[in-house]
Amino acid sequence: MKSILAFALQAVSLGVVAGSYVLKDDFNGSNFFDNFYYNSAPDASKGYVQYVNQSVAESSGLVSYHESKNWLYVDNTTVATSPGRKSVRIQSNNVYNQGLFLFDVSHIPWGCGTWPAIWTSGANWPNSGEIDIMEGTNENTYNSMTLHSVANCTMTNVSQNMTGSMTASGCGASTGCSVKDSRTTAYGHGFNIGGGGVFAMEWLTTGIKVWNFARASVPADITSGNPDPTSWPIPQAHFPFGSNCASSNFKNQYIILNTDFCGLANQTFSACGSDCNAYVSENPQDFSNAFFTVNYIKVFDQQ
Ligand SMILES: *[C@@H]1O[C@H](CO)[C@@H](O)[C@H](O)[C@H]1NC(C)=O
Ligand SMILES: *[C@@H]1O[C@H](CO)[C@@H](O)[C@H](O)[C@H]1NC(C)=O
Ligand SMILES: *[C@@H]1O[C@H](CO)[C@@H](O)[C@H](O)[C@H]1NC(C)=O
Ligand SMILES: *[C@@H]1O[C@H](CO)[C@@H](O)[C@H](O)[C@H]1NC(C)=O
Ligand SMILES: *[C@@H]1O[C@H](CO)[C@@H](O)[C@H](O)[C@H]1NC(C)=O
Ligand SMILES: *[C@@H]1O[C@H](CO)[C@@H](O)[C@H](O)[C@H]1NC(C)=O
Ligand SMILES: *[C@@H]1O[C@H](CO)[C@@H](O)[C@H](O)[C@H]1NC(C)=O
Repeated sequence: MKSILAFALQAVSLGVVAGSYVLKDDFNGSNFFDNFYYNSAPDASKGYVQYVNQSVAESSGLVSYHESKNWLYVDNTTVATSPGRKSVRIQSNNVYNQGLFLFDVSHIPWGCGTWPAIWTSGANWPNSGEIDIMEGTNENTYNSMTLHSVANCTMTNVSQNMTGSMTASGCGASTGCSVKDSRTTAYGHGFNIGGGGVFAMEWLTTGIKVWNFARASVPADITSGNPDPTSWPIPQAHFPFGSNCASSNFKNQYIILNTDFCGLANQTFSACGSDCNAYVSENPQDFSNAFFTVNYIKVFDQQ
């Protein structure tokens, strides 16, 4: 059990003044995975996947820390059988209500059959909301940023205040309201060959903004640990709250990283073949690019 004193001391040691933000959590280094739970429950998105628990993830080398980075792999050696290819889905032990979230990643999973995401979700889905910060499928060359919420939550198309393009306005449950970032540096191969970058998500009572900075254009205030979103260019996605959607629809969010396969993303598999599950099952060697390399995840609170 963590004492209140230990918690307070940790808060002081992490309490670096950062513009209007104060560092709350910094997940990095050899104890990165201690901040997460390995959710091995069956996949609600009907993917061809078997999310493994911590002991299997460790014993089969699906998680690892080396070169000062944390790596999340999928099984790239075994012909998979039902329920699907082995992968990990980690969710933070802490839950969050607003703040600034930074994900510094050098590599994200990519390729035919894959469906990776960096996202947050509440336990009571969709009533406590879901915020998808990085998401794509197969060999996509764009990033999708999406909210999932109650049926009467809709997104206002503030196209002048974001660089991405809104592709769906209804935030209700399964479809979600979504913004597409068409820059090839925003996802997959184009993101990875540039050395990755930083995904940033700012969640306030006024709305949610998402930025995607390629490595070469990460703002200096992020690199120095004192992020100030007011100094950044306009975001890739901006979902304002208001009469269209109450901010109270988003609460108690876990941070989640996972790599899924096929499932509800099946419809976009056609460019790769005709049977996603069979492809994912039979071609383990094709999943050597399906890994995350995480430098850090940081969460800041408003001062
Ligand atoms: C990693 O996070 C810890 C807090 O968990 C922090 O003290 C340390 O400075 C961080 N290290 C790096 C390299 O950012
Ligand atoms: C982890 O999963 C394996 C394989 O399903 C199982 O044998 C093992 O008991 C599980 N470990 C824990 C701690 O749940
Ligand atoms: C939206 O739906 C929720 C229940 O899902 C309800 O509590 C809320 O009052 C509704 N809001 C509006 C503006 O209709
Ligand atoms: C969009 O940006 C303009 C300034 O460029 C600002 O006046 C307006 O309030 C912004 N809209 C939203 C919804 O943030
Ligand atoms: C939002 O506005 C932009 C710019 O006018 C437009 O390209 C886009 O199609 C709109 N999205 C929706 C879903 O209406
Ligand atoms: C995905 O496609 C395969 C092959 O067509 C099919 O068997 C499977 O039911 C589909 N899965 C979903 C979730 O639609
Ligand atoms: C396959 O996954 C393992 C970890 O399970 C990793 O060490 C290895 O680099 C991967 N293979 C390739 C070719 O990327």
